[in-house]
Amino acid sequence: MVSFPDFAPADLTVVVPCYDEAPNVGPMVEALTRALAGWRWEVVFVDDNSPDGTAAVAREIARRDPRVRVIKRVGRRGLSSAVIEGAMSSSARVVAVMDGDLQHDESVLPEMARRILAGEADIVVASRHLAGGSAAGLNGKWRHALSRNGIRLAQTVLPARLTDPMSGFFAVRRDVFEAAAPKLVGTGFKILLELVLSVPETVRVTEIPAVFRPRLAGESKLSPVIMLQFAGMLAERLCGGWLPTRFVVFALVGLIGVIVNIVAMEIGRGMGLGFKNAQILGTACAILANFQLNNRLTYHDRRLRGSRWLPGLAVFVTGCALGNIANIGVAQVIFAADGHHWTRSSAIGALIGVVWNYAIASTLVWR
Ligand code: GDD
Ligand code: MN
Repeated sequence: MVSFPDFAPADLTVVVPCYDEAPNVGPMVEALTRALAGWRWEVVFVDDNSPDGTAAVAREIARRDPRVRVIKRVGRRGLSSAVIEGAMSSSARVVAVMDGDLQHDESVLPEMARRILAGEADIVVASRHLAGGSAAGLNGKWRHALSRNGIRLAQTVLPARLTDPMSGFFAVRRDVFEAAAPKLVGTGFKILLELVLSVPETVRVTEIPAVFRPRLAGESKLSPVIMLQFAGMLAERLCGGWLPTRFVVFALVGLIGVIVNIVAMEIGRGMGLGFKNAQILGTACAILANFQLNNRLTYHDRRLRGSRWLPGLAVFVTGCALGNIANIGVAQVIFAADGHHWTRSSAIGALIGVVWNYAIASTLVWR
């Protein structure tokens, strides 16, 4: 048996997702060092190749401090998936997740970890809405309102009664997280909510009050796209996961494409184009609009940029053209077999077209 006398494996891994948090990394390590004195801990910064060089700053510290680890992901973005990867890189008994902008109060970490190690709970959530906690750090009235309504929405799908299911600060038994990981979709900001929805009923979830501090450096990455992802995640959970949100968004984008097509045709007509040319213009605009919307919304996490954009568009156009041929073909076969029922035949054709296009988009364009 090999032994490592001077090496103390961590009991607690603190996973810190970060994007453009370079100035906060050093203070974060200092804060953890103070709060976790006497503990065997490590911290994993999971950075998505931030333009401000967050990973390099963290690496510089890691060269001096063996408790600091860095995961630098390239070509991917997202808070939830970053948390999943950080947690999966841990071998400790407890994993804690907290933001890298010093908004979460690290002084509650020891109590969170203690409860889990003592077997009192499997997941401990730092709540801003328990007596003693506070959400003072949310800036602006509308962020408060958003948070409040988000919590209400979340509570409709939650099995356990949590005062703060939207918290980004929690601790969990590592084996519990690992068992739930295959069920996590990992898009968006709300990894805790997803986790609570994915664990067996026997898993005990408790809360501990914590203060949410104002951000000192950098800015929040919460955006409208992320709120949409949240709505999508809830919708997916509400219908039992059988209808992927991505597909719903893809289909909605398709509908927008139809509108773009009609509007562009009308504009072409106004400019004096004949039917054929107006139709070509309309179709081209619709395809471009669909491609861009899918790139920005539906496949936000796999967005094509730079030199990958044009080849992506080419595959998208070719694939969807084939889909439309299939759509027309199927509609005609059904039309002939189904007593010449116009609406039903074309609806089935369109549905098959959308499913086809979705399959092409998900497997060949945005891989
Ligand atoms: N790796 C990675 N990739 N990290 C990210 C990304 C990303 O795409 N987006 C955000 N982060 C990191 C940030 O750098 C920060 O450390 C942490 O995730 C939280 O992001 P903020 O942008 O600071 O979020 P917030 O303060 O608006 O929201 C926080 O409070 C919410 C409650 O109101 C988060 O903790 C949420 O999870 C929480 O629900
Ligand atoms: Mn923040």
